[in-house]
Amino acid sequence: MKKIVYDFSNMLRSDRMIKGVSNTDVSEYSNDATIIHKQIHKEREAGRLGFYDLPDQNIDHILKTADELRERFDNFIVLGIGGSALGNRALYSALKTSRDLDKNVVVLDNVDPHLLYQTINTIDLSRSVFNIITKSGTTSETMAVFLICLDIIKSHFPDDYKERIILTTDREKGFLREMVNRDGYISFEVPDNIGGRFSVLSPVGLLSSAFAGIDIRELLKGAAAMRRHCEEPHLFSNAAYLNGLLHYIYYKKGMNISVMMPYSNDLYDLADWYRQLWAESLGKRLDNAGKEVMVGQTPIKSLGTTDQHSQIQLYIEGPEDKIITFLEVLEFDYDYTIPPLFPEEETLDYLNNKTLTSLLNTEKLATEVALYEAGRPNCSIILPALREYHLGEFIFMYEVQTLFTGYLFKINPLDQPGVEAGKKATMALMGKESFEELRMKIERLIEDKKQLGARI
Ligand code: PA5
Repeated sequence: MKKIVYDFSNMLRSDRMIKGVSNTDVSEYSNDATIIHKQIHKEREAGRLGFYDLPDQNIDHILKTADELRERFDNFIVLGIGGSALGNRALYSALKTSRDLDKNVVVLDNVDPHLLYQTINTIDLSRSVFNIITKSGTTSETMAVFLICLDIIKSHFPDDYKERIILTTDREKGFLREMVNRDGYISFEVPDNIGGRFSVLSPVGLLSSAFAGIDIRELLKGAAAMRRHCEEPHLFSNAAYLNGLLHYIYYKKGMNISVMMPYSNDLYDLADWYRQLWAESLGKRLDNAGKEVMVGQTPIKSLGTTDQHSQIQLYIEGPEDKIITFLEVLEFDYDYTIPPLFPEEETLDYLNNKTLTSLLNTEKLATEVALYEAGRPNCSIILPALREYHLGEFIFMYEVQTLFTGYLFKINPLDQPGVEAGKKATMALMGKESFEELRMKIERLIEDKKQLGARI
């Protein structure tokens, strides 16, 4: 099977890229890379990096459940947020067209009332199954939407509502697990040693994918192949480590923004998955020694060619604070040839008889060259086609890359204290009992803010 390719030629120092990273700059980190590589292995052995084991998991139960659900339902509604939602959407969007997926996956990852209204009122409820995904079982957004949906499902299908609901949560803890144990809902586990944003290849992302018709075995095969690739400690032989290191070195040079720019609408949601992984894992106030460091590279997403007419001007001529990662698809499953409808028209002659794929990827190349000429670092991940195997490779590569980069920063890439603080503040302000003290503290802050009167 042809593999994804990581092209980093536009990241290296040259006459054009005078501020680029040289081979010697990279080699200076070989010692760190060896130490981190060993650390990763130690942590894997200690069972702390559960995502490494996912390519080997037994997926029989997922496949069997998905087959049964496919017979009864057309719509799979995911209720979750963050790591319990973004991977599901990314996989479905990436493969929907190329695999002609015949089922719908809808991800409700917000408490926007119009989003819920629109979904509930446009799908055929009788042909819809709801998968509530929350590792903690306490996330306000997920639980609020779940309670509303449960009420609706119960009122429409009082006799069999439980068969229309699947709960994916912690193996032992939380209210949802209690519901499973008490009421016998179909359930799946989020493994204890896997955080939300590293869980897409667990039942969190696999069940909706299998329901949609995605070949999840291939997805895991691709991930396993990338895991083998990442066993290589040498920086120039390990795409995940090298890309992580290059981003780290550029960050130190002031490039604190990482743009992911797929030249494929189908991969736009994958860039969203990356945004969460990179932001939540690396954005940290404290390092492992408890020192205040406030690090993190801001990930943003952009779409080629669309954003060539919106963002590229800034990337080429604006502040030198960005690294661009292009995602390129070599072969699309469906293509069009531009018909030579006006053979005499000179302004159109270069388009005649060309395919849309060739125009799309030529524009990507042109943008890449323009950035390079302007001395702006950029790299590409090239996918031979939109296939499960390559998405598995991509996901696993970025998970390892994120972990490795976190260790370069000497922070914990697996926690998210800022998110937890936000979750608690919401509960306190919404009046949760036992959060009284926090509520009073926040209300005092709000009062102080009001005193400033900074509103027009
Ligand atoms: O990556 C993470 O840990 C977070 O983004 C979580 O996935 C998100 O906050 C949702 O948490 P939970 O699955 O507990 O509802």
